[in-house]
Amino acid sequence: MKNEKIFVPPFKIQGIKTKLLPLIKSAITIENDMTWIEPFMGSAVVGLNIAAQKAVFADLNPHIINFYNSLKLRKITAKMVREFLQDEGAILAEKGEEHYYHIRTRFNTNHNPLDFLFLNRSCFNGMIRFNKTNNFNVPYCHKSQRFSKAYITKIVNQVAHFEQKILQNDWQFLCQSFEKTIAMASENDFIYCDPPYIGRHVDYFDSWDEQQEQKLKNSLFGTTAKFMLSTWDKNKYRSNPYIKLFWNDCSKINHEHFYFVGAQEKNRNSMTEALLTNYTVSNAKIPKSSNYEQINFEFDELKYLVDNGFK
Ligand SMILES: C[S@@+](CC[C@H](N)C(=O)[O-])C[C@H]1O[C@@H](n2cnc3c(N)ncnc32)[C@H](O)[C@@H]1O
Repeated sequence: MKNEKIFVPPFKIQGIKTKLLPLIKSAITIENDMTWIEPFMGSAVVGLNIAAQKAVFADLNPHIINFYNSLKLRKITAKMVREFLQDEGAILAEKGEEHYYHIRTRFNTNHNPLDFLFLNRSCFNGMIRFNKTNNFNVPYCHKSQRFSKAYITKIVNQVAHFEQKILQNDWQFLCQSFEKTIAMASENDFIYCDPPYIGRHVDYFDSWDEQQEQKLKNSLFGTTAKFMLSTWDKNKYRSNPYIKLFWNDCSKINHEHFYFVGAQEKNRNSMTEALLTNYTVSNAKIPKSSNYEQINFEFDELKYLVDNGFK
């Protein structure tokens, strides 16, 4: 597992599970006839690496779904991505932030999937964040030489790998809420859920609260498929109360990792993640701890506690 290659998808997103993949993979067995069901696909890094022959990927964010459906339908190819990033990257190098904001306005008007990729790979910290009117609102990363030859090649290779997997397999991409996706599962299938983390500030396409967590619980306990749910367990300030409240009947695997608030080392905090399953995991390979920056997990725990009257 340690040396197994991890494929990185073309999009970045806060909460991406790249570094937890070895653990997640070690706790999942996929049989040939199973459908992989991922109701909160985000970047899709988990499903991409599980690489099941049949898969349903879904998310409420229509732009991610649109990008992957465009790849599937060959409206976008890796070659087109290269040409697009070369052209727009050259203008960015010349005009800097003016061009970034030009593409952002264009994307918020036309929703072109190539613009979405451009923004995701040149915005501040590689985030996906939309405001109340569903406009992408992440500021510029202030690196006008962002799209170097090597960076473009890296992104193009990520797109090409995803493209190849889509064409080789039977993968569906659906823009819908998790209830519908979970309802598609049958006994033989496997559901992996990675919703926005409850009780922590989130800024995804959709918000997440207790009502949503309750609905998720009802959906997952109503399925006959196997499931795994990623959530947070505890940090130095508090524990996730919903684990006991809602998920007590699940098996739990813990893993500690470090995340950063902002860029400074002194702001490093550790947090324990939990993987909850409705089956017993016998071979989970739990690394001691991983020292990684969970991308853009810009969550200031103390500020949250003060703002919400906990401190
Ligand atoms: C933590 S991210 C998933 C990250 C993903 N596992 C990865 O590694 O890239 C959560 C995702 O859930 C999506 N989401 C939020 N509410 C949703 C809902 N009600 N139904 C489906 N997707 C939702 C967000 O758009 C976001 O992409």
